[in-house]
Amino acid sequence: MADFLDEIKSLHESARAELARVRDSKTLEVWRIKYLGAKGLVRSVMDRLREVPREIKPAAGKAANEVKNAIQSAFDSALAKLTSSTPASAGPAVDVTLPGERPAVGHAHLITQTINEILDIFGRMGFSVAQGPEVEDEWHNFIALNIPAAHPARDVLDNFYIDQHLMIRSQTSTIQIRVMEKTPPPICVVATGRVYRPDTVDATHSFMFHQVEGLYVDEGVDLVNLKTTVDQFCKAYFGQDVQTRFRPSFFPFTEPSAEVDLLFHLPDGSTKWIELGGCGMVDPNVLEAVRIDPEKYTGWAFGLGIERMIMRKHGIPDLRLLFENSARFTRQF
Ligand code: DAH
Repeated sequence: MADFLDEIKSLHESARAELARVRDSKTLEVWRIKYLGAKGLVRSVMDRLREVPREIKPAAGKAANEVKNAIQSAFDSALAKLTSSTPASAGPAVDVTLPGERPAVGHAHLITQTINEILDIFGRMGFSVAQGPEVEDEWHNFIALNIPAAHPARDVLDNFYIDQHLMIRSQTSTIQIRVMEKTPPPICVVATGRVYRPDTVDATHSFMFHQVEGLYVDEGVDLVNLKTTVDQFCKAYFGQDVQTRFRPSFFPFTEPSAEVDLLFHLPDGSTKWIELGGCGMVDPNVLEAVRIDPEKYTGWAFGLGIERMIMRKHGIPDLRLLFENSARFTRQF
């Protein structure tokens, strides 16, 4: 009995020692055949169980079985380790010749790209960039812009009021006021941002859209400079052959005022003037509201719709496509 037990003990030890040296699946297979194969050492020890005396057979059998199981599970875990850590030698588990998975790389949305492009063009003309909050008070959105309390633009149905005096801004002209309050002339800034109006959503209207606002205040600033600047901007953004038109109009914060129209080429071959935004010479009342002397300084301002520009430049027929965030749409730009 003692001999048999010694034998299985040393079998276990040598199996373990040899397995510890196995580094690849080929040697593991050699090891497996030697110990666990049909004619392997474990099998031959099990076979010799038949020869041990009957009285000690249960104890010997138990010990032999334990060693057999221990060797088997040592093999199993060695195999699992080799398969997971060395894929190439473990055979077909990983095919290293397959092409890799491409990580999905995103990019800026067309509106963001366009804003950057607009700011870049005005930057080259010498404008710096200003910013203002989306939640505004009635002073910056209306009063300082010469829009009196009874003006229809202040109607509760035409604005998103938060309370009686606060709202989400309906125009980026608010930023003109914020800049002039803080900075003495000369002022030469552009600002982009979201504006909000309770419009019914359709192909050319939305409750939220983007504007680019420009403001130039200095001594001797005139209308010719305004027209030239807006024209040069349109040529830089749309291309030299773009057609723009200035149409006399009215805004409370400019005098005189004009609307900027852009010629759209429709799919059926016809053309149509579409309003891009407004502009004009800053009204003296506005300069006074921000304590800039209208006798000394003059200025002009404009506010243009960014989505309209995008639609014209990229031939997008419906504004809503810009906000739906379908990857099939956004990926194209
Ligand atoms: N704020 C006007 C609007 O949203 C556009 C505008 C008109 C802006 C004239 C200006 C301006 O700066 O001078 O309809």
